Amino acid sequence: MKIHGKPWRTIWPEGEGAVGVIDQTKLPHRFETATLGTLDDTARAIRAMVVRGAPLIGATAAYGIALAMREDASDAALDKAHDLLLATRPTAVNLRWALKRMCDRLRNRPRAERAALAWAEAAAIADEDVATCKSIGEHGLKILREAAAEENGEPLNVLTHCNAGWLACVDWGTALAPIYMAHDAGIGLHVWVDETRPRNQGASLTAYELGAHGVKHTIIADNAGGHYMQAGQVDLCIVGTDRVAANGDVANKIGTYLKALAAKDNGVPFYVALPSSTIDWTLANGRDIPIEERSADELLKMTGRTPSGELATVEIAAPGSGAANPGFDVTPARLVTGFITERGVCAATEAGLRSLFPL
Ligand code: MRU
Repeated sequence: MKIHGKPWRTIWPEGEGAVGVIDQTKLPHRFETATLGTLDDTARAIRAMVVRGAPLIGATAAYGIALAMREDASDAALDKAHDLLLATRPTAVNLRWALKRMCDRLRNRPRAERAALAWAEAAAIADEDVATCKSIGEHGLKILREAAAEENGEPLNVLTHCNAGWLACVDWGTALAPIYMAHDAGIGLHVWVDETRPRNQGASLTAYELGAHGVKHTIIADNAGGHYMQAGQVDLCIVGTDRVAANGDVANKIGTYLKALAAKDNGVPFYVALPSSTIDWTLANGRDIPIEERSADELLKMTGRTPSGELATVEIAAPGSGAANPGFDVTPARLVTGFITERGVCAATEAGLRSLFPL
């Protein structure tokens, strides 16, 4: 996607010994890139959310393995890199998926070949993510086109939560890919952007992306979605996901469940867009999805830009109060209208998923 007319991906090779990434902790105030030259750099970038979003976490981890192999291509180094990266963020299963794919590719190959093989495999994971997200966009576009046709010329109002756009992937995005394609196809639409407390990925990243692409949007408080649904001002919801269990239960950014409940109560279709690398076939249902507990500071403090242009962090809570901060919640499959995947749209059930991704 483009920023100021220049096409960007969220991660790219810089020569053969480093990768470049967009530093998402600085957006929307500053567009800065960072260079990751070692395994530890990649692990730190994932942990600190310099890069975030399930598919991008996977692609970054793949490059982390590739960077590790340049320094030491032994089995021990491969295992160590795998374990270090796997521990960075627990909920997004794309991380485990990408690490397994890298290890499967490298494990029985001669050491002398591993660095080059790993680099090529990481690049393939990144390229495939772009193609996958593009397909998700094309399948989702059909849904948006049909929904827009019922609006009698009025814009289609779509609500999204957190950031499942191109910044969360390598390009295009999952939930936002259909929106970009609908916009490019001339379909009139407007996006309600949940601010997505506590880290505000909606206000700071989704709104930034949509604005850069010229898509009409409005940031709303997380608590406002139900109100707009009751008022008939939300025609459809699309969110991304960090892990889908075999029965279709969906883990996504905290607050997604409440939106799905409100959508159900108001008859608003609630779609989840995902690449197949987000399906965890090992979990029968969402109960066992590990939920990341993040720092209380994310709730107790806020960072923003001062009038003089500096970034500043301020405390927003009564001194001495603690905070609990689960990063994700699980939306039961029964609240999901359908999954939009790279192979098409299916019911949010095991049979639905298997119809597109057979054993
Ligand atoms: O904690 P984050 O910012 O990595 O969480 C991101 C989300 O919850 C996204 O909705 C998710 O990764 C969807 S995949 C594009």
